[in-house]
Amino acid sequence: MVSSVNHSIASDELCGGGIGGERKLPEPCTIIIFGASGDLTARKLIPALYHLFKEKLMPAAFRVVGFARRDKTDASWRQELRDALHQFSRTQPVDEKLWQVFAENLCYCQGDLSDAADYQKLEALLTSFGSGPLRENLLFYLAISPSQFGEVVEQIHHCKLLNKESSAWQRVVVEKPFGHDLASAHALNRELTRYAHEAQVFRIDHYLGKETVQNILMFRFSNSIFEQLWNRNSVDHIQITVSEKLGVGGRGGYYEESGALRDMVQNHMLQVLSLIAMEPPVSLEAEAVRDEKVKLLKSIRLLTPADVARQVVRGQYFAGVVGGELRPGYRQEPKVKTDSNVETYVALKLLIDNWRWSGVPFYLRTGKNLPQSTSEVRIQFRPTPNVLFAAQCGSQLDANAITLRLQPNEGISLRFNGKVPGLSLGVRPVRMHFSYDSEFGAYTPEAYERLLLEAIVGDATLFIRRDEVETAWQIVDSIRQGWNGQPLTNREFYAAGTWGPIAADDLLAQAGHVWHEPQVIQ
Ligand code: BG6
Repeated sequence: MVSSVNHSIASDELCGGGIGGERKLPEPCTIIIFGASGDLTARKLIPALYHLFKEKLMPAAFRVVGFARRDKTDASWRQELRDALHQFSRTQPVDEKLWQVFAENLCYCQGDLSDAADYQKLEALLTSFGSGPLRENLLFYLAISPSQFGEVVEQIHHCKLLNKESSAWQRVVVEKPFGHDLASAHALNRELTRYAHEAQVFRIDHYLGKETVQNILMFRFSNSIFEQLWNRNSVDHIQITVSEKLGVGGRGGYYEESGALRDMVQNHMLQVLSLIAMEPPVSLEAEAVRDEKVKLLKSIRLLTPADVARQVVRGQYFAGVVGGELRPGYRQEPKVKTDSNVETYVALKLLIDNWRWSGVPFYLRTGKNLPQSTSEVRIQFRPTPNVLFAAQCGSQLDANAITLRLQPNEGISLRFNGKVPGLSLGVRPVRMHFSYDSEFGAYTPEAYERLLLEAIVGDATLFIRRDEVETAWQIVDSIRQGWNGQPLTNREFYAAGTWGPIAADDLLAQAGHVWHEPQVIQ
């Protein structure tokens, strides 16, 4: 039996869809997960749907159908997911009663992605839900290899589950990696849009589901004190750091094909950069926001091979100690070639050729096996002329900075100078901190909760549009062409547990800049 409990949305939760627009009510629908036996389903998707249900944000009626090759029953799939929820749920303990009600909506459909008969079986299962919205409003979640996207959309189209023209809605959600270069992304886009309109395709970048990433536009465009400073007249440079304490571990096979540039820069980091640097959109409608992001990405100067040599540093970790633990080198990780030249670290300087940012360097760095796991953006302002305090305080007055801490210790800090109390004239940088936890309590929904909800209500603001993904690949391709498959040199290795190769420091030193260590807030 399937639950029909009406988990309607409370009136005080009715605003705030997407990055800030008013949320539509979620309509009854069925979510079909291809790749239902995989890690993503157990770790992220089902826990996210369970929490939406808990928060009364799921539609009044819904089903979740898992489609995968392994032989399972509804009951065994539910049991498996329940065990996983106990392990991965962000709230503990799991509410067993609520889970039982939620789990009645979960059904399993055993099938092979390339077998047309199995899609007929899926179609029959959906039809058994009646002829209403549970059969017609369909969200297909492709938690499978991108090489299978084309085949799945073709099959679901042929059995009349995915239509370009329909009075109901059908949407396709796809996970990264979305291609491995511009040509492959282009081909994937062509495959998907043969059977679905672009407006039906929801490309996930889980960074956009993070509360702190959504707050970037809110922070920039709802605060006049900062908004006025957000340009080349006041900003000296910007640093975006996404560092990870973990190594590549069991993902060597995937990582050998990807590397840090494709894994992190092409998507998460360029997305954060575009939100930090874009112009104000005309509204918070999905197309208005995405138009501005694309405009920004298009104004990033593509790198020539000579620029790559000057502006991009790659690195690979060798064995070292991270947080007291001895870590193997990348080349010793499982499924990694012993002479691999794949980068586990990349630092780069990008320039944006537009009116607002002309001449302002944007430094990006990301890597595995670094000393801390931190994602943050630092806006470094120009120093004031030091004519007043130089005699007493030295020639170097600290410049102001705003740090947006995306994770962990989510919050924002402002750094400015203050007089050291006392009879002499001493100056010292001091900080003001805003912290999400102390301001709003510890409630932070997982990125997938937000993203699944937005996909269900059909708000595409937090998803990547076709031209966005392709423009980002153009930037990444220009860097890879500069590398031209050259092996790594000695200067490009770093010990696990350090902040990357020395060359990354030199990259900033050329302009008199230094990387700022991510802040640890007590
Ligand atoms: C994924 C990458 O997209 O993002 C991983 O494939 C990376 O390599 C992860 O570890 C980082 O995400 P988060 O949310 O932990 O910062």
